[in-house]
Amino acid sequence: MNSTTKTNTYTDFEKDVIDGLQAYPKHLSSKFIYDKNGDKLFQDIMAMPEYYLTNCEYNILKYQSASIAEKFDLKEGFDLIELGAGDGKKTKLLLNHLSNINANFTYLPVDISQNVLDELGSSLEKELPKVKFELLQGSYFHVLSQLSSYNKRQKVILVLGSNIGNLLHNDAIEFLKKIQNNMTANDLLFMGFDQKKHPQIVLDAYNDPKGITEAFNKNLLLRINKELGGNFDLESFFHWETYDPETGTAKSFLVSRVNQEVKIKNLNLTISFKAWETIHTEISQKYDDETVKWLAQEANLSIDRRFESETGYYKNYTFKKS
Ligand SMILES: C[S@@+](CC[C@H](N)C(=O)[O-])C[C@H]1O[C@@H](n2cnc3c(N)ncnc32)[C@H](O)[C@@H]1O
Repeated sequence: MNSTTKTNTYTDFEKDVIDGLQAYPKHLSSKFIYDKNGDKLFQDIMAMPEYYLTNCEYNILKYQSASIAEKFDLKEGFDLIELGAGDGKKTKLLLNHLSNINANFTYLPVDISQNVLDELGSSLEKELPKVKFELLQGSYFHVLSQLSSYNKRQKVILVLGSNIGNLLHNDAIEFLKKIQNNMTANDLLFMGFDQKKHPQIVLDAYNDPKGITEAFNKNLLLRINKELGGNFDLESFFHWETYDPETGTAKSFLVSRVNQEVKIKNLNLTISFKAWETIHTEISQKYDDETVKWLAQEANLSIDRRFESETGYYKNYTFKKS
C-alpha cells in the first residue's frame, strides 16, 4: 500500500476512500452508495418482500397520518424538513393528507443524492401540485447547521426509513443532539426506528437470494472504479451480513475471495487485500423502547408519542425538546 501524493483538496468521497481503505479493519461509509445506480438499487430493495421496513412504515403513514399531524401547527403553518428523504414514497402519504386538509407548510427534503432529489422534485410536481417544496442537496450533518435559519414558524423534522440505524449509538446521540440544538420548544421530531425481532427476519432483510443487497453494497466499489479510476474486480468480492441479537446491530461486509491488489489511479493508491479480508460498509441498528428512550435522554429530547406497525416490527416516535 503506498500513500497518496495528490495535494489538492479531496471530496468527502475521496477522503472516505483514502481513510477507510488504508485503515485496519477496512471500511467505507454507506452514504456513498447512493448515486443514480445506488438509488435505483435501494428502490429495488424497498420492493423486496424480505425488506419489511418499508411496508411497516408505509402502513404507519397510510393509516396514522391524521394522528401524526395532530401536533403540527396547522394554524400558523410549519416547515416540514426531511433528512435523507430518498424517493419520498412514504412521505407522500403524509404530504397527501396535509395537502387534503389545506395545511400551510413547505416541504424541505434533504438528501446527499442530487439524482434522488431531482426525481422526487418532478414526481411531487406531478402527484402533489399543491405542495410547496424546496430541494436541499447535501449531507444532513452539513444541512443541519442551516436548520436554525428556519425559525419563523414551527419546524417538523422527519427522519424515516430507520436512517438513524446507519449510525453507531454514540454517533446517533451526536446526530440527535445536533437536531435538538436546532429545535425550539414548539418544534417536533418524527423518526422511524426499526425494532429488534427474530434474528432470521433481520438477516433475511439484508441478504436476499437475488443478490440485490449485494449489488447495492458493491455499488461503492463500482463508484470507486467509475469516479476515481479504480480497478476493483467486483466478482472477487462477496456480500456478507451479520446480526448480533444482543446489541441489535446488523453489519454488512464485502469480503475478498483472494489475495489481491487494487489500484485507484486518481488517488495514486494501491490497496492490498488478503483472502477473506473485509470491508465493512454499513450498519443497520435495531432498537427497543428502552434504547430509544436512552438515546433521546442523552440528547435532551423526550418521547412525545409512539406509532407502531401492526406486526410491532417497526415504530415511529415523535420527540420534543426536554
Ligand atoms: C436508506 S435510504 C432511506 C430513504 C427514505 N428516508 C426512506 O425511508 O425511504 C437513505 C437515504 O438517505 C440518504 N443519505 C444517506 N446518508 C446521508 C447523509 N449522511 N446525508 C444526507 N443524505 C443521506 C441516501 O441518499 C438515501 O436517499
